[in-house]
Amino acid sequence: MVKWMTKLLVALWWLPLVALAQGQAPATAGSGVRAWNEIKGEKREVLKLQGDVARGEEAFKICQGCHKQGATGSSSGAYPRLAGQHATVLIEQMTDIRSGIRRNPKMAPFADEHVLTTQEIADIARFLQALPIQANLGRGPGNSLDRGKALYEKDCVICHGNKGQGDAEKFFPLVAGQHFKYLLRQAVSIRDGQRGNANPDMAKVLKPYSDGDLEAVADYMSGLAAP
Ligand code: HEC
Ligand code: HEC
Repeated sequence: MVKWMTKLLVALWWLPLVALAQGQAPATAGSGVRAWNEIKGEKREVLKLQGDVARGEEAFKICQGCHKQGATGSSSGAYPRLAGQHATVLIEQMTDIRSGIRRNPKMAPFADEHVLTTQEIADIARFLQALPIQANLGRGPGNSLDRGKALYEKDCVICHGNKGQGDAEKFFPLVAGQHFKYLLRQAVSIRDGQRGNANPDMAKVLKPYSDGDLEAVADYMSGLAAP
């Protein structure tokens, strides 16, 4: 049996246990509870490893059921596009999902240490960062772009960059051209303190945002051309 199929079986066997544990874990508020993105433990270890693109491609096969071939994600917003994301951000998110800091019961069994090695996290991050970013994947309705642009330039550009390119060194994600519905869902979850690992400075900025504000700014971000 090929390696990734064996892994799939392990993930499926593990699924009920890990999902249950994650489902029951209390959501940690986005701010103040712990220092954001502490570089320690496994995260520190992965960041020091040299990733390998070919090994990453192989290890990513188990992820494609959800994140799709080419890591495009889906415009329904259920699964984010991972192609072209900064390796540092991918490592931060994968290790936070694995440790449960960012709650993701759907994916947790696939990020479990019985399925994914520490080295494979580095390999996958390297592979995904190098993938081409498809344009116009899941754009928003485009009806409040002016408002979205004004909010983005006032509150978000300082970290996410004028083209939505983020900042690899600071762990700020590339958001340009990400699926509108995914961005919106995350923005709501960050505002409401549900994401678990959200940067507290960002959570503060988003706190007073109305649903309409979030929709407008997510709309604008989804239309930015990825670099
Ligand atoms: C069963 C479906 C599923 C599988 C399989 C899966 N994921 Fe995910 N993944 C998700 C969902 C759902 C999210 C978004 C979670 C949310 O909405 O908060 C996500 C989010 C992520 C993120 C965070 C992206 C961001 O923009 O913050 C990364 C990185 C990621 N997945 C990597 C992987 C890797 C690598 C694998 C394979 C080892 C994998 N996923 C397998 C469902 C899955
Ligand atoms: C202080 C820096 C900072 C500011 C300001 C900021 N962000 Fe973020 N943003 C981040 C970081 C860091 C992440 C990655 C999540 C995490 O681990 O905190 C992120 C993630 C996101 C995500 C989820 C992306 C994904 O791939 O999962 C969305 C949506 C988002 N930000 C929207 C916004 C919006 C809208 C604004 C402005 C109103 C904003 N951010 C302002 C730092 C910032």
